Amino acid sequence: MSLIDKLEWRYATKKFDPKKKLSAEQLDNLLTAIQLAPSAHGLQSYKVLVIEDPEIREQLREAAYGQPQLTQASHVLIFASYTTIDGEFVNDFIGNVAKIREVGIEHLEAYRQSITGFVDRLAEDQKITWSHKQAYIALGVLLTAAAEMGVDACPMEGFAAGKFDEILGLKEKGLTATVMATVGFRAADDEFSKLIKVRRVKEELFIHV
Ligand SMILES: Cc1cc2nc3c(=O)[nH]c(=O)nc-3n(C[C@H](O)[C@H](O)[C@H](O)COP(=O)(O)O)c2cc1C
Repeated sequence: MSLIDKLEWRYATKKFDPKKKLSAEQLDNLLTAIQLAPSAHGLQSYKVLVIEDPEIREQLREAAYGQPQLTQASHVLIFASYTTIDGEFVNDFIGNVAKIREVGIEHLEAYRQSITGFVDRLAEDQKITWSHKQAYIALGVLLTAAAEMGVDACPMEGFAAGKFDEILGLKEKGLTATVMATVGFRAADDEFSKLIKVRRVKEELFIHV
């Protein structure tokens, strides 16, 4: 199957088979795809919580308007964005660049200043919005990787973020819930898997200039 065929195959899974779990390798590959997602300046201004605990998942389901994927899927991946993006955050990033690329930190000063300049120009609420956007890019990469691997997924933003923050203690970690994906394997009787995909025709979706 080509990637396009796999993107046709995928759909927002509403009913997972609770007996089918991702192997450790499949989960790790999904997490690697998220790790490799691009982000503005490479800052990766989010964390991803990998939730398996059944009790926590019950609580999350309640805060997600009872959506069954929360308890039926193999895993729940929650993208949570940092709420404070400041000079220290940028310094940590630059420190990581220096370590991984084995470059003296002094050679990265102009780079550090350009990122700090960008971050400093954003108001606090703009920073959080920006941070959320980065998390959505990682979500997109995850969904594509899952399809490529034959793993089912449902992207989900139908939840009360404040309640998720409370249940997961995100505020204390300087984070807030952005979006999530439930991953696993579709139930054989998920009616949604049979629906024909609805997308706008290319003439309507694209503008060629
Ligand atoms: C950001 C985002 C949030 C979504 N939230 C939910 C959700 O909370 N619950 C749900 O069942 N589906 C959710 N969906 C799935 C969409 O409804 C679905 O992707 C869309 O209808 C297109 O269908 P398809 O993905 O099956 O092709 C969400 C999708 C995205 C991209």
